[in-house]
Amino acid sequence: MISRPRGTRDFTPEEMRRRRWLESRMREVFESYGYEEIATPTFEHLDLFTLKSGEGVIDETYAFEDKSGRKLALRPELTAPVMRFYVERFQMETKPLKFYYFGNCFRYDRPQKGRYREFWQFGCEMIGSDRPEAIAELISTAYSVLRQSGLKSIVVRVGNLDILRRFLDGIGARDAEIMRLIDKKEFGELERRMGEEEYGKFMDFIASNNLDAIEFEEAERMREIVSYLEDFGVPYSIDLSIARGLDYYVGVVFEMDAPRLGAEKQLCGGGEYNIVPLLGGRKIPTSGFAIGFDRTLLALEMEGFDFSEERRRVYVAYMEGMLREAIKVARKLRGEGIITEMDIMGRSIRKSLDYANKKGIKNVVIVAPDEWKEGKIVLKNMETGEQENVSIEEVMEKI
Ligand code: HAM
Repeated sequence: MISRPRGTRDFTPEEMRRRRWLESRMREVFESYGYEEIATPTFEHLDLFTLKSGEGVIDETYAFEDKSGRKLALRPELTAPVMRFYVERFQMETKPLKFYYFGNCFRYDRPQKGRYREFWQFGCEMIGSDRPEAIAELISTAYSVLRQSGLKSIVVRVGNLDILRRFLDGIGARDAEIMRLIDKKEFGELERRMGEEEYGKFMDFIASNNLDAIEFEEAERMREIVSYLEDFGVPYSIDLSIARGLDYYVGVVFEMDAPRLGAEKQLCGGGEYNIVPLLGGRKIPTSGFAIGFDRTLLALEMEGFDFSEERRRVYVAYMEGMLREAIKVARKLRGEGIITEMDIMGRSIRKSLDYANKKGIKNVVIVAPDEWKEGKIVLKNMETGEQENVSIEEVMEKI
């Protein structure tokens, strides 16, 4: 027997129902902020990702050579591909440009709950504005996508890489490895590398998180951005220890967590970044974020989110001689967008009810000759056991 590769998953019909439901919910929120969907290939030239993503990403990338010896990679994320697309096609368009995407990504990570080798990201990129209100709107978009998916507990942390890097420069402790250790929160190793005194200063710096104590120009801009977050209704805290795993970030960065998820609690990461010039494009402000779709679903499940009401579902059973009438009923219900499953196994009513029960379908319609003559069908609620004779129109109201 051949099993699926490590870190990948199959999805059952029940899981796919939840995934599709969450997908359409998230899509609506991105669109409500004026974002438009785009898509890019699943694999790209490896160079696109090694350009500025940093060592960490290279280690985690699924890279391979095709039959002509081209070095390719399965995408570990979508920001670099979207920027490649922007440089090729959209540089002349009116700004701001607001693109969103939903796609699978691949990282050669150590799999565990909430961490996979194939996972899905819902994300967006905003091109053309770095005004404080634009960045605040971006953070608000991420928060709304999570919030309007039904998630109750979301922690929003906002940081700033210009401030962090300047601080590290000041204590003579800035390099790529230190940024990586900060991102991974490996404090023991950080202390060894920085030395005790510098490490102490660093810990004081991130513990205070006080923008007013910072004199850099960048702190003033941060204060303005977070003041707009209040207008957008986004609860946040300042976290100057956010380093982000990818090297292309500059300026404001942010992360959102679902505390209940434990080790893999980060649902969303993003911020301002600089890639366009590396791809041969003209310098322009860019920012964005990506939400871990799989983790958001896990977080909803852990909060006990009720997925049962996602969409209305009906099972249509019929008594002997009523098949054609049952087809008409099913056709009408489907026409109204109701998920309708009809008996196609020639089951008795009793067996049909057992089946609906097993599949967790709450509403069963029974097409029976006497009721049909009166223009009615029987609607049975499988949870309460109640049943009543109603018209098809009434079925649509009642379920
Ligand atoms: P990232 O923080 O690397 O950012 O990934 C974004 C989110 O994807 C994470 O917060 C996490 O929820 C999810 N994620 C990452 N790796 C895995 C994994 N192995 N399994 C499951 N979920 C995972 C980026 O990718 C940037 N491109 C975001 C961005 C867009 N920045 C600017 N624009």
